[in-house]
Amino acid sequence: MSLLEIEDLHVVAGDREILKGVSLKLEEGETCALFGPNGSGKSTLLATIMGYGMTTVTSGKIFFKGKNITHMSVDQRSKLGIGMMMQRPPNVVGVTLGNLVAATAKNGKGVVGVEKEFKMQDFMDRDVNVGFSGGEIKRSELLQLTAQAPDFVMLDEPESGVDLENIDLIGKKVHELIYGKEGTDNGGRKVSAFVITHTGQIMDYIGADKAYVLIHGRIAREGDPNAILEDIKTNGYGVEDE
Ligand SMILES: Nc1ncnc2c1ncn2[C@@H]1O[C@H](COP(=O)(O)OP(=O)(O)OP(=O)(O)O)[C@@H](O)[C@H]1O
Ligand SMILES: [Mg+2]
Repeated sequence: MSLLEIEDLHVVAGDREILKGVSLKLEEGETCALFGPNGSGKSTLLATIMGYGMTTVTSGKIFFKGKNITHMSVDQRSKLGIGMMMQRPPNVVGVTLGNLVAATAKNGKGVVGVEKEFKMQDFMDRDVNVGFSGGEIKRSELLQLTAQAPDFVMLDEPESGVDLENIDLIGKKVHELIYGKEGTDNGGRKVSAFVITHTGQIMDYIGADKAYVLIHGRIAREGDPNAILEDIKTNGYGVEDE
């Protein structure tokens, strides 16, 4: 069985069906890109895999490491080794970033004390995300993921809204998350990843083995990530509004 298998997933948010029968597979050690126009359901798909409760699965199944996780809690999924960097994570009033990173590391198997590498050393006593700028939120999320050290990492537009210098930092840190720190042994294993990107910038740092394109809640295309990205850049998505 593949690391992640999604079978005919239908998801509703509010009174709208957002995902209309998504099926896909992601193998162990694979990095997969997810493209698609705004509003096509990309963030909904990743949030549903993580189990964030903003959406309702009406039918279909999600398997991770052979287990049916469709109705598991976020906590259970996180313990199974799934981690996520959200596009717009919520503020967590009353919890400092330092406390969250420490708690995350306790449950996970990642490292602590590396906040300086993420330029987050002055943020550890602040409430999570409260008043953080867009780029600061991305670095904070990556620091939390590093503390968790998931086996499967989902990144929702990690480079979006980040200045060029910080894109380099984020790209290198995501590379470390997937391949391990240079000079260290990551068990010889590459962590699997599912990455939403509009620009493909993050792929320059981590590469991608395959890509899916999501349009109007359905997988419209899959294949070579670079070829698909070039095609989108040249021809657009070629879709009409629904
Ligand atoms: N609670 C909700 N009620 C109604 N519609 C919702 C709800 N949550 C999400 N949607 C809609 O679902 C659609 C898909 O949203 P989603 O955030 O998954 O898109 P996306 O592909 O990630 O887009 P982007 O590239 O802009 O980030 C959007 O049209 C959004 O408005
Ligand atoms: Mg999104």
